[in-house]
Amino acid sequence: MVGASSFRIQEIFLLALFGVIMVISSYFMFVYEPLLLLRKKVLTLSPGGIFFNMWSKPPVKIYLNLYLFSVTNQEKFINGEEKLTVKEIGPYCFQETLIHTNATFHPNGTVSFIPIRHLTFIKEKSVGDYKTDRVVTPNLPLVGISAMLRDSSMFTNLGLTMISNTANSKSFVNVTVNQYLFGYEDLLIKLGHTALPTWINFENFGLFDRIFAVDNSSNVITMTTDYTKKTPQNPLYKPEEVKRNYYIQEFNGSPGLRHWEYKDVEGNETNSANSRCNFIGGTFDGSLFPSDLTVNDEFRVYRRAFCRPLTIKALREVNVDGFEAIEFGLDDKFLSVPSKILKTLVIVKTVKIVYLTELQV
Ligand SMILES: *[C@@H]1O[C@H](CO)[C@@H](O)[C@H](O)[C@H]1NC(C)=O
Ligand SMILES: *[C@@H]1O[C@H](CO)[C@@H](O)[C@H](O)[C@H]1NC(C)=O
Ligand SMILES: *[C@@H]1O[C@H](CO)[C@@H](O)[C@H](O)[C@H]1NC(C)=O
Ligand SMILES: *[C@@H]1O[C@H](CO)[C@@H](O)[C@H](O)[C@H]1NC(C)=O
Ligand SMILES: *[C@@H]1O[C@H](CO)[C@@H](O)[C@H](O)[C@H]1NC(C)=O
Repeated sequence: MVGASSFRIQEIFLLALFGVIMVISSYFMFVYEPLLLLRKKVLTLSPGGIFFNMWSKPPVKIYLNLYLFSVTNQEKFINGEEKLTVKEIGPYCFQETLIHTNATFHPNGTVSFIPIRHLTFIKEKSVGDYKTDRVVTPNLPLVGISAMLRDSSMFTNLGLTMISNTANSKSFVNVTVNQYLFGYEDLLIKLGHTALPTWINFENFGLFDRIFAVDNSSNVITMTTDYTKKTPQNPLYKPEEVKRNYYIQEFNGSPGLRHWEYKDVEGNETNSANSRCNFIGGTFDGSLFPSDLTVNDEFRVYRRAFCRPLTIKALREVNVDGFEAIEFGLDDKFLSVPSKILKTLVIVKTVKIVYLTELQV
């Protein structure tokens, strides 16, 4: 009997102890939120962590679906007999793989790195083979140079006509999709490159070639990893922008676009040429986004090939494989084309791992 009752007392004591531990731990859970702590630990961009490895080689599938217009009546158009008619061909699908290299962490809560991009042709998602399919298109270098010289004197234009005749540059070219994207030789460009090497600093002209020449050329990005450490003083930031992580502070050493007349300033100085339009501080590079975004939020994304920051707005809340998510899209004002260009950008937010799942451009 004695044994049994002492057992009962022990049991009660253990239960009570257990209860106390539960009460205390629930108190700690309430105060410290272990999930939050864990999330903070895992989702902090620091050298060597899981998150760092994920960020270095983002597992995001980005597809570029390309549609080209092939001119069908160039002879009749040149002779002035018909309006230009075109036929759409596509898609030619390329997957873009991004890696972040040369990451250097700074004590003020920033990291600088160089993004490198690779393109892979995805045959299954394309209409044909880009290496053999052909398009007839306006000769873009000639069109571009003519457009630039539109307001120049008759003599300059006469000069261009003579040069382009000598160079045998045609108004329309019949090239493969590969040449159109990655470069074809044009004597006009060659001449321009020899005569004006600072202005025309390339020998071959191709659409992707030109885009990736700026987007993939050792651009150094300085991005915030811990916004609580140091806040940039530039008055062009919106207050909410400096209270998020992963925003860009500097692109090649400046928070602005120098080719759009941004002038670098110290601290909170202002300069009349600087505006939100030529300012890229506070934008995202498109691979990491702030956590805790809501459906009322908008943010800006910048890539050098875009030439200016793009505004991305929340469209609606959606469900992706059981996770709550927010679908974002381009602001309708972008190029005044209702956001067909960038279809959707789905950010999974329940686990607060803010990650782009798939992007179709
Ligand atoms: C980036 O890192 C590579 C290899 O570590 C190095 O060769 C290269 O010079 C670095 N580039 C810059 C701009 O620091
Ligand atoms: C980007 O640069 C890397 C290294 O310089 C190169 O290997 C890669 O082919 C380039 N990507 C494109 C799309 O040109
Ligand atoms: C373009 O060139 C190819 C090969 O030289 C030729 O087969 C095709 O008919 C040409 N297309 C046009 C519209 O001239
Ligand atoms: C943080 O340090 C980097 C590298 O030295 C620098 O480029 C950046 O301007 C600094 N940011 C702030 C807010 O001081
Ligand atoms: C700019 O910064 C200085 C010192 O850093 C401060 O005294 C001044 O009030 C600031 N001006 C504005 C407009 O914020």
